[in-house]
Amino acid sequence: MKRRNFLEHVGWTGAGIVWTLGATGTLSAAGAQEDRGFSFVQISDSHIGFARPENPDVAGTLARAVAAINALPNQPAFVVHTGDITHLAKAEQFDAARSLLQSLKAPLLALPGEHDAIGSLKGYFASFGRKDAPDGWFSFDQNGIHFVSLVNVFDFELMGKLGRTQLDWLKGDLAAVPGSRPVVVFAHVPLYALYPTWGWTTEDGAEALQMLARFDHVTVLNGHIHQIIEHREGNIRFATAAATAYPQPAPGTAPKPGPLLVPADRLLSVLGYRTLELVPPSDLHSEDHPLA
Ligand SMILES: [Fe+2]
Ligand SMILES: [Fe+2]
Repeated sequence: MKRRNFLEHVGWTGAGIVWTLGATGTLSAAGAQEDRGFSFVQISDSHIGFARPENPDVAGTLARAVAAINALPNQPAFVVHTGDITHLAKAEQFDAARSLLQSLKAPLLALPGEHDAIGSLKGYFASFGRKDAPDGWFSFDQNGIHFVSLVNVFDFELMGKLGRTQLDWLKGDLAAVPGSRPVVVFAHVPLYALYPTWGWTTEDGAEALQMLARFDHVTVLNGHIHQIIEHREGNIRFATAAATAYPQPAPGTAPKPGPLLVPADRLLSVLGYRTLELVPPSDLHSEDHPLA
């Protein structure tokens, strides 16, 4: 049931293996030892509070994803939720989502979707905000990878935009990162023009992508469109994630985007989560796991 996916052999060459001759005369790869087992997980679009025939039990399907992640033999370093945690940004929906996500064994990182920004991002920040990210965006380095988490939804009506302040921050953040270091970027709405007719784009995303052009290997992980779509532009690999709540139609196959009704016995096969594993020295292997 598992689907091997796009990031196989991205071919990162940023980190080298240091071969050392041990006391017993055997060679071991120090780099490989250090990096072995580093992985993280992406989940997206849980829409807690949604209750329609497309998925009458979104809490149940998120709980199923959490249980599957907790059962992974190699626990991820973290789980990133790429937004639309709630459906209507209500306090009780944030509470319910937080309580479900708190049962993850791995630490949780989150970023908001436009459904978490109805009215404002206040409720999102109250439940999932970080002290080191007063505006929502942040970056960190882990296992030789530079991670950047962006916000491109500030209101339900203002989505698909990063804004000048964040772009300036990103420029400064990336300035200190060597071009050989793999970069992984999270954002809710796709950063490239995936399907602008349905708003599946970030209007000032091209400026961010331009800043990422000098890096050898960049991976951009998004949510929002509730289906897996992979894309490549030069050094940048893009992948949107399946939702844990409900699927949406493929671009242009319906009059407008929105929850897609599939037969009940097929729903879990179109929902899922994604594992990403760093394979020394610098490959990032990705696998999408349906909940079925
Ligand atoms: Fe969504
Ligand atoms: Fe969204």
